[in-house]
Amino acid sequence: MGEGKAQKWKLQSLRIPPSKLAILATEKQLLRLQRKAISRYFLCGSMLFALALISLFTGHVTSDIEWYSQRLVKRAFYSKLGSSQEKIDIWKSQSSKLYYGCSDRGPRFLRPARERLSNGYLLIATSGGLNQQRTGITDAVVVARILNATLVVPELDHHSFWKDNSDFLNIFDVDWFISSLSKDVTVVKRIPDKVMRSMAKPPYTMRVPRKSTPEFYIDQVLPILLRRRAVQLTKFDYRLTNRLDDELQKLRCRVNYHALRFTKPIWDLGHKIVKRMRRMSSRFIAVHLRFEPDMLAFSGCYYGGGDKERSELGAIRKRWVTLPDLSPEGERKRGKCPLTPHEVGLMLKAIGFGNDSYLYIASGEIYGGEETLKPLKNLFPNFYTKEMLANEDLKPFLPFSSRLAAIDYIVCDESDVFVTNNNGNMAKILAGRRRYMGHKRTIRPNARKLSSLFQTRHEMDWKTFAKKVKSCQRGFMGEPEEMTIRAGRDEFYEFPSTCICRKPYRANCRNSNNTGMLHRPVAVEPESNRENDEGKVSLGRPNKNSTGEEHASSDEDTDQEEFLPD
Ligand SMILES: *[C@@H]1O[C@H](CO)[C@@H](O)[C@H](O)[C@H]1NC(C)=O
Ligand SMILES: *[C@@H]1O[C@H](CO)[C@@H](O)[C@H](O)[C@H]1NC(C)=O
Ligand SMILES: *[C@@H]1O[C@H](CO)[C@@H](O)[C@H](O)[C@H]1NC(C)=O
Ligand SMILES: *[C@@H]1O[C@H](CO)[C@@H](O)[C@H](O)[C@H]1NC(C)=O
Repeated sequence: MGEGKAQKWKLQSLRIPPSKLAILATEKQLLRLQRKAISRYFLCGSMLFALALISLFTGHVTSDIEWYSQRLVKRAFYSKLGSSQEKIDIWKSQSSKLYYGCSDRGPRFLRPARERLSNGYLLIATSGGLNQQRTGITDAVVVARILNATLVVPELDHHSFWKDNSDFLNIFDVDWFISSLSKDVTVVKRIPDKVMRSMAKPPYTMRVPRKSTPEFYIDQVLPILLRRRAVQLTKFDYRLTNRLDDELQKLRCRVNYHALRFTKPIWDLGHKIVKRMRRMSSRFIAVHLRFEPDMLAFSGCYYGGGDKERSELGAIRKRWVTLPDLSPEGERKRGKCPLTPHEVGLMLKAIGFGNDSYLYIASGEIYGGEETLKPLKNLFPNFYTKEMLANEDLKPFLPFSSRLAAIDYIVCDESDVFVTNNNGNMAKILAGRRRYMGHKRTIRPNARKLSSLFQTRHEMDWKTFAKKVKSCQRGFMGEPEEMTIRAGRDEFYEFPSTCICRKPYRANCRNSNNTGMLHRPVAVEPESNRENDEGKVSLGRPNKNSTGEEHASSDEDTDQEEFLPD
């Protein structure tokens, strides 16, 4: 953690409003503020401590007060030390109860224009695998809102790597989608025939650049929409900026976390599997493993399989003519390689999960099959997959990769602990969702740091290794405090900070409700210093032509986000 970051971290943990953060400039000011905050805590903490002591003698220890006093004292103590070495419960984030998901409409959020009075029909063709398409659907609703357009239920991608012919209504409850968004955006299943007949030309088709702003949609798309009455946006995934005003961010959350509900058959089977896991163990870990041959080939990494692996993955890699020559070591150092199943097992064990923990493995084909999985199974013998838990029930879903992905999504979402070996769409979207749903423990491997550690594992004893893994993973455990550091720099889908609010806990300390604290979302960093995450995901140059009409750019087709969808 850099010095600047560490300071921000401390500030956030002292809960200084973000507006003040921007003003704070000098070190001195920082220290002064910190000291002030600490003494306040100290006062508050000591009062509570005295209270707790009294109630201890009188035999009424209220757990709430005790908890707060401990927390405050501990916090002030560690803030002084300038570190956050608190031991964490690996199964459950302790501070999660301080937060809740908040995505209600604001009082000034107007009802949407009705179909007849709207600016036209917005047609959307999403792109990629199920979770990438999910972001497209969510953004489509927001874009329709920005344009005062009527949204036609988005079309799913039938031609992605995942080749699934399912339509929206096969995966998502379409009637629920329409009705639950009725106060936000008018959604229809199709353009009425009468309107279709009255249109002189078929709907205008265009592709907008990645992460376009609302202004872009108003300037470039709205005029066409008004002229032609219907516009189709193609390859619609991540086409709307991460930065939007709070009302639109909250709309994103209403779509993603509430309006998009899987169809009953998918929901039922997903929950049946969850029940079967829970029957065996009251809590379980879901591990999302992406280790398909294609994906490994695409990553350009080396996974320790010798010449056999090099030639097999090399042959697959030739399929993409535009892929650059990568150095496998370089990619590993940069944290770009998904962890092997064995590495995931070592990480979990090092973090402190016992070998009696129950694992649900969400995955497609694993490169190397059983042989690759064996080391993980040896570490965690209670190892289950959807195939093991729902053999017969799974049959109707087998031809549809997106429906299978949806089932895994449900089980991973419901799990006590969610772990991934990768940084793909499903990992990010579930991480964000689990934050919104109460900061359920979500472990993301800090691959950059872990990679060198795994390589030198045999040079140290297990205890040292475990300690180092734990230290690498600090800040990657799905703790609420991570939001304040990462929000604004990363994908909104991964860090939905606008939709996560703090509970009014000052009231407990001061015996009064400070309404200013009530529904304030978690602080967001200023946008400066944002990494160019465009480069992170796309290999090809993004299509810079702003209107981009029918200019299919072929390099976009091989971009990683497209390939890696899950
Ligand atoms: C959408 O409708 C609202 C309220 O009627 C209006 O204020 C806004 O300017 C409209 N925006 C567009 C792009 O038509
Ligand atoms: C689990 O670990 C314990 C020691 O911590 C060991 O005694 C036991 O044999 C292990 N169980 C399995 C199934 O590996
Ligand atoms: C504080 O707010 C909560 C609900 O937000 C309410 O139940 C409680 O009565 C309020 N307490 C005071 C002292 O106003
Ligand atoms: C962008 O597309 C338009 C047509 O849609 C075309 O006239 C223009 O030349 C293109 N610009 C670039 C830089 O490719």
